[in-house]
Amino acid sequence: MTAGSQQQDVLDWTNASWERLGSSPDLRARAGEMAQKLAGEIGAGRLPFLALPFMAGLEQELAALESGFLKGFEHMLLLGIGGSALGARALQKAFAPGQDLPGHRGKSLWIMDNVDAATLEAHLDRLPADKTLVYVVSKSGDTIETIGQYFLVKDWLKRAQPTAWKDHLLLNTDENKGYLREEATAFGIRTLPVPDNLGGRYSAISAVGLVPAAFLGMDWRGLVRGFSSVAAPLTDPKLDAASLAAHPSFEFAVWAKALMDAGYCELITFFYIPAWSSFADWFAQLWAESLGKDGMGSQPLPAVGATDQHSVNQMFLDGPRNKACLFVERATGPAGLPFPKDMPAIFDYLQGKRFGELLPAEALGTRMALTQSQVPLVCLRLGADDAAAAGKMMALFGAATLLTGWLMGINPVDQPAVELGKRLAKARLGASGLAGEKAQLSAFTTGGRDERGF
Ligand code: PA5
Repeated sequence: MTAGSQQQDVLDWTNASWERLGSSPDLRARAGEMAQKLAGEIGAGRLPFLALPFMAGLEQELAALESGFLKGFEHMLLLGIGGSALGARALQKAFAPGQDLPGHRGKSLWIMDNVDAATLEAHLDRLPADKTLVYVVSKSGDTIETIGQYFLVKDWLKRAQPTAWKDHLLLNTDENKGYLREEATAFGIRTLPVPDNLGGRYSAISAVGLVPAAFLGMDWRGLVRGFSSVAAPLTDPKLDAASLAAHPSFEFAVWAKALMDAGYCELITFFYIPAWSSFADWFAQLWAESLGKDGMGSQPLPAVGATDQHSVNQMFLDGPRNKACLFVERATGPAGLPFPKDMPAIFDYLQGKRFGELLPAEALGTRMALTQSQVPLVCLRLGADDAAAAGKMMALFGAATLLTGWLMGINPVDQPAVELGKRLAKARLGASGLAGEKAQLSAFTTGGRDERGF
């Protein structure tokens, strides 16, 4: 590879193991059918995450928020869960890492995506209400984890800011329905809409992820630009079999489905850009919630190099031979500090080198070891680890997830199986109705138990 080409963003298919993936030719032959389906869904307005019809208006709103309202706060407390939180966290960790470093003085984003009573209390005890913006993100506007926190946080705000509490709230929810929308209307609280058909895990490049990005001073325009550059060809009215077949998201989908057909039911995502490790969690939700359907799918296994070389990598390398790997690295990272001269002789090989040389060497070593262990592997190698590259990656993975789901014959934008647990929890808390769930609960909790002390 030449020095020039190292700066390109590349998908490296060298170790994809196509020879072991017998269904791939048949899957590739479905490009025309998939192109037609894409055109139909986009035409019907059902894929706003790719077509971004809301973006021009949102860009104006973000610019105004950035230069005005958001400037008035030092802290953003984000209440949201799943797709309403994971994209924002990935962006924060990648592009505003200062909060996790010693001596942080700038703006802080606190993402509350759980219902841990102690954590919520600690935040409310320590955050200065007068400098805090509470950003509540819920597409449905009814999610109990988010709304449960909202009740308490609103109460906290009202006590601390009896007259100005509404000015410390920004609600991002469905334009027309749901509890949060009613709340916004009843009290005149500032809102941003989650566009129709924009599901949580596909919504990072919307106000859901971009408002926190703007708050933290990230290059959100670069994110959008990168995202659009990958998504735009898929939304082109002239999209046909040949142009879809040439798009990396389709090739990735073919690979992913062919892997499933060949019994590879786990997909490692190994990020060798340490600050991007939360993108592995973002991807895990996107992939798992979209594709775990009808007994099919592949389990995402998020990992970060070099840390996880010393935790789960042994299983990747020599456990069940059911894993493939999506490897994410950058062409060049920071050079790092030079090693000092007075090192013991056994570390002579580090003489004259810099700390930044460790990670690429370890990435190469792990990539080769996985390949030698017969793990089918595709490597996404980014020329730069900037916002535009992240946007490109997010569009690639989003579109690939969608297309993989269509190749599987399932609906990749719903998540019906997770509803039962939610209904049972509500029944447990005494919500009205839910008679069937209450009967199930009673049988589950009082039936013959096998519990043993230890
Ligand atoms: O991706 C999804 O659709 C889910 O993970 C949702 O984001 C999550 O359940 C939260 O839903 P809501 O945004 O309606 O509160």
